[in-house]
Formats: sequence, structure tokens, C-alpha cells
Amino acid sequence: MMKTKDENMKSYITTPIYYVNDVPHIGHAYTTIIADFLKRFYTLEGKETFFLTGTDEHGQKIEQSAQSRGKTPMEYATEISQVFRSLWDEMGISYDHFIRTTDSYHIQAVQKAFKLMEQKGDIYLGEYEGHYCVSCESFFTQTQLKENGGCPDCGKPTQLIKEESYFFALSKYQDQLLKWYQTNPILPSYRQNEVINFVSQGLNDLSITRTTFDWGIPIPNQTREKHHIIYVWLDALMNYVSALGYGQAEEKMDFWKEAIHLVGKDILRFHAVYWPAFLLSLNLPLPKKIYAHGWWLNEGQKMSKSIGNVIDPRETSRKYGNDLFRYFLLREVPFGQDGDFSFNALIERNNSDLSNDLGNLLNRIIGMSEKYFSLSLESSVEEYFPEEIKQIQDIISSALLEIPQARFNRYLEEVWKLFTLGNGLISQYEPWNLMKHHKKEKTQALLTLLCNLLYKGAILISPAMPSSAQKIFFALGQTEGSIAELHQNITKFQLQKIDPLFPKLEKSEIQPSQQVAQAQQEKTTSTMIKIDDFLLSDLRVGEIKEAKAVEGSDKLLCFQVDLGEGRNRQIVSGIAKYYNPQELIGQQVCVVANLKPAKLMGLISEGMILSAKDENSLKLITPQGILKNGSKIG
Ligand code: MSP
Repeated sequence: MMKTKDENMKSYITTPIYYVNDVPHIGHAYTTIIADFLKRFYTLEGKETFFLTGTDEHGQKIEQSAQSRGKTPMEYATEISQVFRSLWDEMGISYDHFIRTTDSYHIQAVQKAFKLMEQKGDIYLGEYEGHYCVSCESFFTQTQLKENGGCPDCGKPTQLIKEESYFFALSKYQDQLLKWYQTNPILPSYRQNEVINFVSQGLNDLSITRTTFDWGIPIPNQTREKHHIIYVWLDALMNYVSALGYGQAEEKMDFWKEAIHLVGKDILRFHAVYWPAFLLSLNLPLPKKIYAHGWWLNEGQKMSKSIGNVIDPRETSRKYGNDLFRYFLLREVPFGQDGDFSFNALIERNNSDLSNDLGNLLNRIIGMSEKYFSLSLESSVEEYFPEEIKQIQDIISSALLEIPQARFNRYLEEVWKLFTLGNGLISQYEPWNLMKHHKKEKTQALLTLLCNLLYKGAILISPAMPSSAQKIFFALGQTEGSIAELHQNITKFQLQKIDPLFPKLEKSEIQPSQQVAQAQQEKTTSTMIKIDDFLLSDLRVGEIKEAKAVEGSDKLLCFQVDLGEGRNRQIVSGIAKYYNPQELIGQQVCVVANLKPAKLMGLISEGMILSAKDENSLKLITPQGILKNGSKIG
């Protein structure tokens, strides 16, 4: 039997703390869901696990975002921090502590660390001259910049700054860092190689204070004329220990040496170079592991608010269910690599993996157990199916081996082999034929075996899909199990009938559009927009010249609309349930004329017809009297 427990029974899981300059998007949800998955997995293993998340609230970027909204940085940070927290609560994220870098214990811990580094001789005063990217809160030399002077990481314009600054002696730690990487702390290994290459090229000392803005933690004992604020990354990284009581009661510091940091590939350098160097300076142990994941793209494109293609995790999880959303993110992409998000791919996963493989297996087991054994099973499976029991154990062992490698998608792939095996055993043994041939005992043993298989499967999927696993436990008349129970077989099951777990979903004709996602996202930030934001929309009066149903769709109508441009625009709109196309010909409507063209059911749509909806019906918005086609609405 394989060993499933580490000698060490503690584990500490962290997400990055999220900037409050923006509301949560799918990237934040991805990191947080993986962290939550790990927390639940280690808890199943019987470990005492501490899971930390929170918000990164200082720095120039936040100061600027707050200013542009007419708020103080603290007001703004509090508002957005709450948006993150409420999302995680709604999504059932099992964090143990939510840290804000504006919390006073954190501020004290950061100042204490600064003092200790100074006492160690690792901090000195100098002058920083170079380029700064406010968006990444990161320093660059001229040679690192893109040809157009943009930030090498995010491409945005950088600022040339020259100011008095304290420096951290990063270069001093180069050899110690290179030695640490030999213990393979970073996964996937190709990311570790990138870090080793970076560090091997030589490290420059790091500017760790700024004097040209205020929103941050002041250095302890300011003696200079200039007011020094601690660099936001030094401030932020310290959250991982301040949350454990570092520099104060230290009540949870025994978790520290078990730390596993989950980060996106874009912030790996901060975690794998700066952070361990700070820890070395503070004489603290280094994190046990850093897992770096890739980026979610939307149709191959980076998601950004300015492009308007950001996927809103709250909407997605509400619409498709939290478990499907979690399963999709964990299963779709090999951990470490970039992935393309699409709603159709999500629906495909539901219909094939969840509905066909898992849901169907459960239905078949319940159906046959009811028909042949009135939902009560009792049998020793070892006698009839020793070979199959071994196959089940082999699959479980290989699945468990994937977790320490941070191959979470492979873990789920392995677990799914159990369900394929289960469905395969039904086809192979054909219980209905066994019953016909009076092999009632063998049928009962087979169904008991399948219940065991499903019970183990449910334990294994519970970190990824907690509520679906609960429903399976209930159907099998079991309570939540632990990893240890994976290796025992149950001889008695009293089953319960439940509703289908994963009803099939229809592929959506209209993908929740980029604009809608963006509007929803902004709505959560603030309900107020500036007049300039409103004026970005080009709204026009147009006349519907032609209208017809879209073949194969019961939602869409396709219009030719005259916006006074000398040609008609084709606009596809999801209003078929409310209007007969013929009755709309000749009507004037209000149109968003500057939407990026989109393809719906293979038809290009070059705008959007405005409508309003209440719980009973939908009505098009029309001008009160006739106007020239193309008249501007404002
Ligand atoms: N505040 C810093 C982290 C400090 S940790 C001490 C920060 N915050 S962030 O809000 O900008 O980003 C947090 C995480 O979101 C990063 O891990 C980043 O990789 C992740 N993502 C942002 N966009 C993403 C995608 N489109 N896809 C996947 N993750 C991405 O950086």
C-alpha cells in the first residue's frame, strides 16, 4: 500500500494577495481555486492546513486608481477588498485568513522586517535612476525595456524616475539562491529553469523605497528629509509571514516552513528571487514550494479591461455552477501552461466528463440497485472481483502521485479513469444478463464493487468539486471519507435516489459577450461612470430594413439596419422569443454602432440593438418620433 501521509502533518497554502485596483477576474479565481483545491486535498490527507488569501492595497497604482474615482485610497481599497472577499465567500473558498496589507499587524511586521534587514547590513541609501512600470509596480533598466520604451512584462508605458532610495543588497544572495534552486522548489521545472537563467545572469540590488507618493508603509524611524515609503512588493510579500504572526505573537509561525505559494507565471520572479532573498536576510526558512501557473486567454488574446474581453468569475460560477467552473479550470489546462477560456469548452466538459462519465455511472448504479435489490446492497467484493479491486487501487495510486508534482489536471484525468472503468465494467458484465441467468449474488457483488469505486472517486474529486462529492456521498449512504478510506472496501450500501447530478447543457449561441462581461465587472466596482466613459459609446437611430430568423437558433434574429451610412449593417440579436421578425420591418430602433463586430451562429453582427427587459417581457427601445436614420443618441 502506498504511503499517503507526509511525516509532517501541517501545510500552509497561499494565493497571491490581489491588487485592489481592479475587481476579480478569472485569473484571480484560477489561483484561488487551485489553492482551495490543495487546502481541501491536504485536509483529506489529515493535515492541519492553513490557507491564506487577501488583498494588496498599497502602491502608486492603487493611489492613482482611487484618485481617478474621487476616493481616498483607503475607501477605495476597502470597497474592492470586500468585492474579493465576498466573491470567495460566495464561491465557498475555504480560506482560513484574509489579510489586507492595510491591517495594522501587517504594517508593524513590515516595518520590523525593514529594521532587521537594516541591522543585518542589507539595506543602504542610494539614488535610483531608471524606469518604473506602475502597472507591474516593477523597476527596469533601459536595456530591459521594449523598443518603444514599454514595460517588458505588460507593454504599458514606463516612467523614468530619479529619486533617493534605500536599496536591498539582493546581489549578495545570488549564490544562496542558486543553491536553493537545486532543491527543486519551483514547479513546473521549466519555470524553475527560467528563474535559474535569470539569477545566473547576475542580480542588481533592489530599490525598496519610493519618495514620490504617499500610499504605502513608511520606513521605521524616518530620518531623511524625504518621506520614504516601502516598495509595494516588499510590503506585499511579507504578508505570507505577517499573517502567521511574524514579528509579534508568532502564534502560527510553525506553519511557515510548510509554505506552498501559488502564483501566476508573471509574478514568479518576485516570489522566487526577491522573496527568498528577503527571507534569507531575515534568517527565516525558505518556502517549501512555489507553484507557477500559466495565463488564461480569451480566444488566444490576453484579457484586459481595455479590450473588454475579461471573464467575470462571479457570473460564470453563478450561471454554470461552482463545481463545473472549478472542474473546468483545474482539468482543462496542464498546470503551468496558458489556456484558452471558452464557454463552449466548459459546456463540453460538463456534457462529456461530468454528465456522460460520472453522472451516468451514478444513475446506472442507482437504477440497477433499485431494480434488483431495492437500493440495499450487501456483498464482499473481494471474492468475485479481486482483479478489478487491484485495478482500482492502481488508478488511485497513480492519481495521488500527481499532486506533489503539481499536475492537477493529470490528477483529475487519472481519477476519471475510475469512472471509465466503472462504466466499462457495466458493459462487460451486463448485470441485466447476469440477473437473467440467475447470478444474483454476482450482480450484487458487481454493484457493491461499483459503489466502492464511486465512493473512492467521490473522495478523490471532493477537493475539486466539493458539493457534487457531497451529493454522491449522500446517494451512496456514506459520509465524507478521507484518503485512508481509499484503501478499504465497504460491504454494505443503502442507496438513496437523487436528481441527475450534471444535466446536459446546450452550447450557447451567444457567448456572454465581452461587452456584457466588462459592463458587469465595472458595475461591481462602482455604479458611477464619468461622462467621458458614456460618450465612448456611439449610439444611433437605425431603421430595420430586413429581418429574419436565424436557422438553427430559437433565440436569434438577423437584421439589416440602415444607420444612414449608405449601406445596411447586419445585426444579430437574441430577441426571437419576443418578436416576430416581420413585425419589425420599418421600425426605428436604437443601435450601439461602435461595437467590435462579433460572430454569432456563423453570422457577423456589426452592432447591438438596444432593448429593455423585466421579469415578464422584453421591449425594443425606440425613438419617440421618426428621426433621420443615423441620428446620434446622446
Ligand atoms: N499584488 C500582486 C501579488 C502580490 S503577492 C505577494 C499581484 N496581484 S494581481 O491582482 O495583479 O494578480 C494576482 C494573480 O492573478 C497573479 O498570480 C496573476 O498571475 C494572476 N492573473 C492575472 N491575470 C491572469 C490571467 N489572465 N490568467 C491567469 N492568471 C492571471 O500581482
